[in-house]
Amino acid sequence: MLPPFFTGVALLLGLNQVQTALAFIECSVLDYGAVADNSTDLGPALTAAWQECVIPQVTTTVATDVLLYVPAGNYLLASTVTFDGAENWNLHIAGDIYLPFNPDLTGTMLTFENCENILLNGPGAIFGNGYRYRPDGDLTLYPSRPRLIRFQTCNNCGITQVYLYDAPMFHVTIIVTHPTSNVAHDMAIIASHIGETDGFDMSGNNNYVHDVSVEVSNECVTVKTPTNGFVAERITCKWTAGKLGCNIGSFGSGATGVDVQNVYYSDVTISNSDAGVMIKSYPNCQGTVKNITYTGFTLDAAAYPIYISAFWEGGTDDTGTLEISDVTFDNFVGTGTPTRPGVLLDCNKATPCESIAFTDISLTDTVADTFTNACGTGLSGLEAC
Ligand SMILES: *[C@@H]1O[C@H](CO)[C@@H](O)[C@H](O)[C@H]1NC(C)=O
Ligand SMILES: *[C@@H]1O[C@H](CO)[C@@H](O)[C@H](O)[C@H]1NC(C)=O
Repeated sequence: MLPPFFTGVALLLGLNQVQTALAFIECSVLDYGAVADNSTDLGPALTAAWQECVIPQVTTTVATDVLLYVPAGNYLLASTVTFDGAENWNLHIAGDIYLPFNPDLTGTMLTFENCENILLNGPGAIFGNGYRYRPDGDLTLYPSRPRLIRFQTCNNCGITQVYLYDAPMFHVTIIVTHPTSNVAHDMAIIASHIGETDGFDMSGNNNYVHDVSVEVSNECVTVKTPTNGFVAERITCKWTAGKLGCNIGSFGSGATGVDVQNVYYSDVTISNSDAGVMIKSYPNCQGTVKNITYTGFTLDAAAYPIYISAFWEGGTDDTGTLEISDVTFDNFVGTGTPTRPGVLLDCNKATPCESIAFTDISLTDTVADTFTNACGTGLSGLEAC
């Protein structure tokens, strides 16, 4: 058998051309215990191939020079895997990976932690079998059911061209607390329409999501705290009856130190969802949400097309200091629903929403806009600040 670093491109070109070809090193999980029989656990093979083959052979900063490779075939991922301290390599999934139904399975199936310059790409898929963890839509039976993919404290990482189906819980979480720039692009997430199946949950600085399609019954591409600089472009969120939308938050009851700034969403299509865009908090939150732009939205029957809510899960203790300011909604077209306002600003009396600007809002099939404790420009009935 050829050593792993002679496979891949080298095999195709012939060994005599290895010196000149753009050879990459390929660490196949099949050489480390994986079996494409959809019943042998892929988890230990991923860990072994990473430790024994990938780590020793990473010599450049080109992620695609060293592949942790899952070839075509069907695999069962029955245990969670954490790549901690990963740098400069590529998890290349060509196969189809299935999650079992296991009530004891919890955590995140694939976690990249403290990582730098990692690429996760397809053309393969991960099938979460989430519907089996939510029988008849019951979200309470397995509250610790697994999530799919998490990048925790990572810089310059990417995820692309991998299909994610029906995670038991959230699909992709990118969470960081320091300067970073991770990107998710050109991929699709599809889940059963049951709930608690967020598409992309993003925090950190300068993350970028573009050209993705998300069909889940919860958040589509959502910004969490802390975030300073975030761009989402060419996003499709579709066909659900859940709380889906391109949201900021939610910030839970009593959240302090909320810090979300310089966020830009552009070219987004949302159909049949509860929310178009929503900034969700409780009346006792503290912190800053500032300089947010939403532009180029097409909505189809969004229950709440534009909604800022300081009371999104109730609460009346109106003492918060969460400052929501400089939020621009530009170029929104499409339909809401005939019983709810197109624009609903329900802000905190103690700390009103300031400088909320509207341009080119053309939403039909809605009732009159409602503004409470908010000021800004561009819509009739909205007080100037
Ligand atoms: C692989 O196993 C999973 C979980 O047991 C199952 O849901 C899936 O249908 C299987 N895939 C194939 C292609 O047989
Ligand atoms: C507002 O955020 C955008 C990114 O969306 C950024 O380009 C711009 O510089 C920010 N403006 C201020 C005043 O910080």
